[in-house]
Amino acid sequence: MKAVVIRNQGKGVEAWKLVERPEPKPGPGQVLLRVRAASLNYRDYMIAKGVYAGPLGQDIVPLADGAGEIVALGEGVHQWKVGDRVASTYFQTWQDGPMRPEYFDHQLGAKSNDGVLAEYAVLSENGVVRIPDYLSFEEAATLPCAALTAYTAIFESAEHFRPGGSILVQGTGGVSLFAAQLARAHGLRVLATTSSAAKAARLKELGAEVVVNYRDVPEWQTEILRATNGEGVDQVLEVGGGGTLKRSFEAVKFGGLVSVIGLLTGVGPEVDPLPILFKALHVEGVIVGSRHAFQRMNRALERFQIHPIVDEVFPLSRASDALAKLERGAHFGKIVIRVDS
Ligand SMILES: NC(=O)c1ccc[n+]([C@@H]2O[C@H](COP(=O)([O-])OP(=O)(O)OC[C@H]3O[C@@H](n4cnc5c(N)ncnc54)[C@H](OP(=O)(O)O)[C@@H]3O)[C@@H](O)[C@H]2O)c1
Repeated sequence: MKAVVIRNQGKGVEAWKLVERPEPKPGPGQVLLRVRAASLNYRDYMIAKGVYAGPLGQDIVPLADGAGEIVALGEGVHQWKVGDRVASTYFQTWQDGPMRPEYFDHQLGAKSNDGVLAEYAVLSENGVVRIPDYLSFEEAATLPCAALTAYTAIFESAEHFRPGGSILVQGTGGVSLFAAQLARAHGLRVLATTSSAAKAARLKELGAEVVVNYRDVPEWQTEILRATNGEGVDQVLEVGGGGTLKRSFEAVKFGGLVSVIGLLTGVGPEVDPLPILFKALHVEGVIVGSRHAFQRMNRALERFQIHPIVDEVFPLSRASDALAKLERGAHFGKIVIRVDS
């Protein structure tokens, strides 16, 4: 079968190699997935650069997010049948309840775990979820990480979202756009930051009420405060990291929630505890989500007929070009690789 492997970790876009390798076989409790499409996350670029999830096993297949159909069942598998349309779960062992540290060892496309950028992938029978009928494979392949992270941050937090409340998303990557779509569908007010006028216009089309260009307005939090009568938003989905966290603490309202998700600007100087204390903020780290949360999210997507925003679909032969586009930050939404020819 055709597969991409990470052969030169640390080389970024040049780390991926398209190779031929034997088709894997499912063992007991596993299924064989005929992968139709896979999608990229920022972490896949970080893994290729060698700055995330530590050293890899030999020739690991990248990407955690894929969709396709089940073509073979391992011994003892009864919950699936051949032909079922499914997507992978990012953590193969996290079924429900809170995140536990041991799940990190079972993430796809990292450590010694092959991911899904191959024609076939062996997955745990409990490491896949059924995909809604109305979604194409390309669309469903975008769900396992970015969409679920956005869903978990908004709907699975102990600080449950407030109907009619407001949410700030940063940039127009996968997590932020899913958050904007889910929030709008549930009647929340969406405010956003982005880097260009063209992307700002598309955010407005998606229903973002206020969009601030953080290149033109580096202190964008002042605009967010202005747009919320000086109060701030109920929730910030923080994907910026060290370069944005302080501004997010300013942009959120008293008693609000800052969901810490990403590190696009890297890690920062020490965190100032003062705004957390004096604004009685809730600060919560969010890590993707469980398989059951994925199923709950799929019901929400189906109910509102939400279609993921796919920026571009690349063929498998151009997988490295897809990674290069992610590196440039030129995308709006998800970058997908079509795996079948
Ligand atoms: N904790 C988790 O479980 C989890 C899950 C998924 C992702 N993440 C993390 O969340 C972050 C976003 O992931 P993603 O997959 O959505 O990324 P992505 O699709 O690659 O999107 C990145 C986008 O963020 C925007 N951006 C870049 N620098 C920015 C800045 N300084 N301030 C605001 N926006 C900025 C850019 O959009 P504009 O040009 O519009 O600004 C860029 O296109 C990454 O750090 C990723 O590792 C964490």
